Amino acid sequence: MSYQLRPMTLADHSALLSLMEQTPGVVVRDADNLDATARYLLRNPGLSVVAEQGGHIVGCLMAGHDGRRGYLQHLLVLPAHRGQGLARQLVERVLAALAREGIDKSHLDVLVDNHGAIAFWQHLGWQQRDDLLRYSFIRSGNPQA
Ligand SMILES: CC(C)(COP(=O)(O)OP(=O)(O)OC[C@H]1O[C@@H](n2cnc3c(N)ncnc32)[C@H](O)[C@@H]1OP(=O)(O)O)[C@@H](O)C(=O)NCCC(=O)NCCS
Repeated sequence: MSYQLRPMTLADHSALLSLMEQTPGVVVRDADNLDATARYLLRNPGLSVVAEQGGHIVGCLMAGHDGRRGYLQHLLVLPAHRGQGLARQLVERVLAALAREGIDKSHLDVLVDNHGAIAFWQHLGWQQRDDLLRYSFIRSGNPQA
């Protein structure tokens, strides 16, 4: 059965959060709460995508940009639906949407021990960066921010 891809809406938040929490390799933080997700979708309309089959969400990819660079987050495909090109479809759709907004280069984070995702992104032609370090700062000091 084929998959229907459509823009993510705030109504998907609770279903997606539970899928993300069940998926090793996807890290959920306070920044994934309903308010932050509402802000994210408002700032990046139409860029985050869900895949459905039979009315159930089986995959997703969130994306946004800052005017210069695109950022991809929370790619997941449920285990029963892997290996059928769905993640590739999600990535292509998101990159095409970013390109329509003038964004030609995008970044994403992968946990260093997520070997499946590392192999996946390399297979799709993404380049692992070894020329820079990522720095983060949490103003509140909350490690779950
Ligand atoms: C990574 C993930 C999204 C891939 O989803 P998927 O739908 O199975 O991937 P696709 O079927 O679209 O694969 C696309 C291509 O990548 C290849 N690929 C997929 N997973 C791969 C892996 N673990 N290692 C190597 N290649 C892989 C496929 O063989 C396919 O190649 P082809 O198009 O040349 O035939 C899925 O395994 C997943 O949800 N993992 C857990 C969550 C996660 O780690 N997300 C990434 C966070 S950065």
